[in-house]
Amino acid sequence: MRKGEKGIFALMAVVVVGFFFINQHRHAQEEGEDPGIPFYSTADKALQDAGAKLYKKYDCRDCHTIWGVRNPMQSVPSPSLDGIGSLKTEEWLFEYFSAPNPQEILPSRLKAEYQMPSFADLPEDERRTLARYFASLKVEDWYLEEVKKSEYEKLTGRSYQEKLDAEAKQ
Ligand code: HEC
Repeated sequence: MRKGEKGIFALMAVVVVGFFFINQHRHAQEEGEDPGIPFYSTADKALQDAGAKLYKKYDCRDCHTIWGVRNPMQSVPSPSLDGIGSLKTEEWLFEYFSAPNPQEILPSRLKAEYQMPSFADLPEDERRTLARYFASLKVEDWYLEEVKKSEYEKLTGRSYQEKLDAEAKQ
């Protein structure tokens, strides 16, 4: 191969590889890049540890999921708590955990044995830690509407779209 030919081949290689990368990039943009996991916590390490400890200690994980992790023995159709802090405030959570009858706050359609138990007997600082921890579990905005929709439909059995339409008419 002569010197000039080598140069041309090298140039062609660069052009081909370049096109390949540009194409890949365009493809990723068209498909909409994977936006990733929509859940995150605003808690510092200390609160995350304290919350996780109580979550374990009081067997919340027997019924609930967080970070998409489900106890394989879990059989209760309980709500996932991922992103719960974007739906409920810390005050609401504290009242809920302190209620002698949580179903007065959040009605249940489940059998009594599957319903959210009362944690009113826990020491106040533990109820506060739980409330602060779960209030810190947030969900990205783009996912929030979907969470609201499924939450609403699960709790009421009605269509979320109809609710939005009715609100828009008011
Ligand atoms: C026996 C199963 C069970 C256990 C144990 C349990 N929960 Fe629940 N929880 C439920 C169910 C079911 C609901 C939905 C309301 C209902 O049906 O009573 C619920 C609702 C909730 C909600 C409100 C969710 C929402 O979407 O508004 C929060 C927050 C919560 N639980 C946190 C906890 C925490 C924290 C613990 C542990 C300290 C815990 N739960 C233990 C079954 C359970």
